[in-house]
Amino acid sequence: MANLHALITLVVLFGSTFAWDFLGYDDIDAATLNPYQITSVVTNSYGVVVLAQNATALSTKNNEDPIESLTVNITYITSQTFRVKITDTNNPKRWQVPYAVQNGNAAAIIPLYKVVVGQVGSPLTIQITRNSDSKNLFYINSYTTFMYNDKDIFFTNSFNYAVKVMGLGERVSTFVLSPGTYTLWAQDRGGSPVDYGADGKENLYSSQPFYIAIDNNYTAHGGFFLNSNAMSAIVAKKSVGFRTTGGIIDYFGFLGPEPEDVLLQYHNVIGYPTLVPYWALGWHQSRWGYQNLTYLQGIVNNYITNNIPLDVIWTDIDYMNKFYDFTFDPVNYPQVTFTKWVQSLQLLGKHWVPIVDCGIPNDNTYSVYTSGVASNVFIQSAYVVNTPTVGQVWPGNSVYPDWFNPATSNWWLNQLKSFQSTIPFSGLWLDMNEASNFITGEVGHTPPSIINNLTMPYTPGDDINTKTIDVASTHYSGILEYDAHSLFGSMEAAITNSYFTNTLKTRAFILTRSSFPGSGRVASKWTGDNYSSWSYLQYSITGIFDFGLYGISHGGADICGFFGNTNEELCSRWMQLGTLYPFSRNHNSYNSIPQEPWAFGETLLQTSSLSIRNRYSIFLYISTGMFLTSLNGGAFFRPTFFDYPSDFNLLNNATAHFMLGDSILVHPCIWPGVTGTDSYFPYDIYYDFFSGIFVQTNYDNNMYIDMPLPGVIPMHIRGGRIVPTLDSANSVQNLQSLRSSNITMVVALNGNLQAFGTIVFDDGLSANTISSTLYTQVQYNYNYFNETADVFVVNPLTTGYTRPTGEFPSISNIVIYGCAVGPQKIYKLAGGVLTPLNAYFLWDPYNGICRIYLGLYILPPDQPYQLIINYFN
Ligand code: NOJ
Repeated sequence: MANLHALITLVVLFGSTFAWDFLGYDDIDAATLNPYQITSVVTNSYGVVVLAQNATALSTKNNEDPIESLTVNITYITSQTFRVKITDTNNPKRWQVPYAVQNGNAAAIIPLYKVVVGQVGSPLTIQITRNSDSKNLFYINSYTTFMYNDKDIFFTNSFNYAVKVMGLGERVSTFVLSPGTYTLWAQDRGGSPVDYGADGKENLYSSQPFYIAIDNNYTAHGGFFLNSNAMSAIVAKKSVGFRTTGGIIDYFGFLGPEPEDVLLQYHNVIGYPTLVPYWALGWHQSRWGYQNLTYLQGIVNNYITNNIPLDVIWTDIDYMNKFYDFTFDPVNYPQVTFTKWVQSLQLLGKHWVPIVDCGIPNDNTYSVYTSGVASNVFIQSAYVVNTPTVGQVWPGNSVYPDWFNPATSNWWLNQLKSFQSTIPFSGLWLDMNEASNFITGEVGHTPPSIINNLTMPYTPGDDINTKTIDVASTHYSGILEYDAHSLFGSMEAAITNSYFTNTLKTRAFILTRSSFPGSGRVASKWTGDNYSSWSYLQYSITGIFDFGLYGISHGGADICGFFGNTNEELCSRWMQLGTLYPFSRNHNSYNSIPQEPWAFGETLLQTSSLSIRNRYSIFLYISTGMFLTSLNGGAFFRPTFFDYPSDFNLLNNATAHFMLGDSILVHPCIWPGVTGTDSYFPYDIYYDFFSGIFVQTNYDNNMYIDMPLPGVIPMHIRGGRIVPTLDSANSVQNLQSLRSSNITMVVALNGNLQAFGTIVFDDGLSANTISSTLYTQVQYNYNYFNETADVFVVNPLTTGYTRPTGEFPSISNIVIYGCAVGPQKIYKLAGGVLTPLNAYFLWDPYNGICRIYLGLYILPPDQPYQLIINYFN
């Protein structure tokens, strides 16, 4: 370990000059900064510990409460991840996000970065650079861009190069953020405005203080500011700054160097995406405004009569009595009939997911409230001792569970148990959990001045009380809503998740609107209230890209749009696109015209059917890709740029295409009145997914793609990949039945005439699938065998799952794209025995497509064997 000391270089950075180029700091000038001087530097095998003292003479302190003494802990988390934590030496109890960070084994770490701090007596400066290119990953200088006051903390991470920055949610925005100021504070902001970084007043439901920066050499790094207070992120050409209203500085840096590496490094710290039940990867129908049970039943019946698959039907607040959670409108949704119907749906392999809001009406006749009061589980008023703070949500005056209180979990789990004994819900939709409040602050009280924007030293965006629980309210052990506000949704989701995983011992499907780093471990997410418009169709793509960055791989957006009326063309295009969202749900608002698949005419009806069945066709590819994000981190629905990170054309036009996993490239039609367009392709081999026709682009890597309606979305398979498709996709009514489908392997050859792919098989339901290795992961390879033959290899890597008889029984066909010669014979080679198979072959020499029909044989997809494909007699 001693040699690690040598890796730490301590250099005096007196007078260092770095080019400052930043926006949004108008109200910070040199006079308001509080410089710090280093008083001690200690290095150890885990990193560096620095002590620093505020250097401003007391008499000249112009600002409120600068923290006098700082302790800086720079820790090696892994060889590619570091942490810089700066705390108040004299007050270790300052608010910190209670967060279980995965820490690397420091003893084994050889950092691929260099830490340089100033010397004792010099200004507090920290510079962390990547060894391979000496680029700044973290640079702060307390004399120029740093402030550590009680309620106003500011640092700028300054790079010595220009960057494009992504992340820093939640908001509606372009994928690459324009230079500007972005607020992070969970807020239910009506109207979901687009955020251009102009005034900081467009923050939405979540706080996700994580960014990826990509420089002109195509090198990526990441930064995660672990802080839950209301904050601004200031994106500039060569820096990303944060100005927060409390807590501490706790910053994680990720070295990359590719975007995908940054994601894996980040997800290693915050935790991997949750594994949802397989049916949650199916097709979902929802709306606010399914006014009664008969209407809702009609929706499901319409799916059946139109022969369109449906996995999950949702109910919004319409089912509740007076909008009280866990109750039923006695007239419109009579509970006994409703329950019987949900049970009958389950027999059909369909599921029901209800909405649950977090505002509990303070009605003394409502047992959810009275039991909560008895256990003292609600967030407390700042004004009246021992009384819950009261806001207003759908049911009127409401109180809010305090997830910090250990008693709250029990109380909440009891509500869920009793609800489950009334009606069998399969998952839960946690809405309004920012937490939202229709008024500002507490009913009957004006929020106190200390947090009023007039006297807060700094207010990111608008008054932080706007439409939130009064931020002066208190949680268990005195935690202030002011500090913990943005954690509400993620804590609610975690506790709700534990009901499924610990009590029911099944995989959880929780849809949350609010999130914080780590929420992806327990919940799925959608982009909230969007509009039925072409621009919001495009923003849905960036929204889901962002969720992928944040470790929420199961993300979606309201398909066909929420606010406003959709139309047949828009809704058809949105069905094409939305059926490839990881979380795929058509949802609509109360006042809008219907937008179910049959709501317009043949175009939407047929497009919906084709699109949902297209999703079914690649279901094993989707479930495998999602599984792998739960196993290793990363994103499934992602920008094409992430797979080709040296092609800025892909980033500049980021919503015109996306990748599903690393094998399927999709070009959605995101414009009205278009029936085909020139489409950009990365420099690689691609084939039309459906026809197998090779993609030949013109000089600027474009190729015209037909985008007919009705029709299915354009998809292309990457050369070198194998994607499984399911033969029964066109006949089944839900994913449960699809599990008995045979598999056709689509093999797309690369330039070396090779390909590989993976399938993960599991029961799709158990909660401990990964921890107990209850899955079978199979690798498929297509390779050269000898001068006359190629070989298709089935190679199980893990065998934790035993498929029940009849589940995905056989590989029925192999389709080869890029196939220059027609196959003549095929043999199965297993256990040293070579058996000829009486298969049927088709060869399309013009397009280079070979089809091998193996239908007569049972060729299990998860046993070890090889298929020798002979191209000459
Ligand atoms: C707000 C949610 O974002 C929306 O999806 C839902 O329909 C309404 N609340 C009503 O519950």
